Amino acid sequence: MTILGIETSCDETSVAVVEDKNILSNVVSSQIDLHTVYGGVVPEVASRQHLKMIDLIIIEALKRAGKTPQEVDAVAVTRGPGLPSALLVGVATARGLSLRLQKPLIPIHHLEAHLYSAVLNPEPFVALIVSGGHTLLIHSASAGKHCLLGQTLDDAAGEAFDKAAKLLGLPYPGGPAIEREAKKGDPKKYLFPRPMINSGDWNFSFSGLKTAVRRMVNSFSENPLSSQQVADLCASFQAAVVEVLVEKTFRAAHSLQAQQIAISGGVSCNTELRKEFDRRSKKDGIKLALADLTLCTDNAAMIALLAEKKILAGFVPPMDWDIEPDWALKS
Ligand code: KG4
Ligand code: ZN
Repeated sequence: MTILGIETSCDETSVAVVEDKNILSNVVSSQIDLHTVYGGVVPEVASRQHLKMIDLIIIEALKRAGKTPQEVDAVAVTRGPGLPSALLVGVATARGLSLRLQKPLIPIHHLEAHLYSAVLNPEPFVALIVSGGHTLLIHSASAGKHCLLGQTLDDAAGEAFDKAAKLLGLPYPGGPAIEREAKKGDPKKYLFPRPMINSGDWNFSFSGLKTAVRRMVNSFSENPLSSQQVADLCASFQAAVVEVLVEKTFRAAHSLQAQQIAISGGVSCNTELRKEFDRRSKKDGIKLALADLTLCTDNAAMIALLAEKKILAGFVPPMDWDIEPDWALKS
């Protein structure tokens, strides 16, 4: 079965071709440079850029996969959650393609696609999805059944990286920039809070950490900060975020007796995060499934892969549906 997937929920225009669980192509056109000047994603700019790129990216994805449009068996597209005007471009394009090719159109939940980009096998799992827009802890006791355990009460983990980076004069997106600087720094140099680490529920909060970075920066007399100060601040900030994510995820897995932990989303690219999860999984004897680095940030391969999984499980796509910008993840 050959599936063409389309993803336009935020600032990446992506099209992929997947066949029998193999990714034949996964073309991602990032808009980061366009949004950097505004310091964040501007929806109107995002949708115009999706519109400009989508046809070219479809042609490129088919070409790289060595497929003609007629060889596509189904079209999959992100229905939500995401920016309404950005989702509309992907969904309208996918609908047109599916009508033209007379092939089924499969609407996909963006977060469920992130989630399954990491899951190893059908055993019960706890999944952590950490991206620029979301920080979610999910429990799945059986195939396809998800229960939301907790989420961030304010900023997402990726958003905290982005905001902390801005305070430290580093470029957008902040995650990779902080990770780069942190390699030269001492994670114990500054003590940042570990928000809600012992809160007794599965929620997160990262906006206080960003405030702690601001206070710390303002307390220094040096202006601008020395490169060593920036490196130490990055390492200490990263250590705080990683410790909270690791601790709460493992505690949830133990408490729900899950045999595996899956981590996905843009922040799961972070090397320290991956290392700490790996170390802890060996210590605690819980299997760890990490999304492949190419599938951590937004991409259409995860959309097409989940569509294929759903089709094989007998999923019948609804006839009448629209974008769902605030679509909640539930079973
Ligand atoms: O999943 P994603 O591409 O888009 C959303 O759906 O939000 O995630 C983007 C987020 C950004 O906030 C970015 O700073 C963060 O993921 N990120 C990282 C790293 N790479 C990307 N955060 C920490 N370390 C990284 N290496
Ligand atoms: Zn995402």
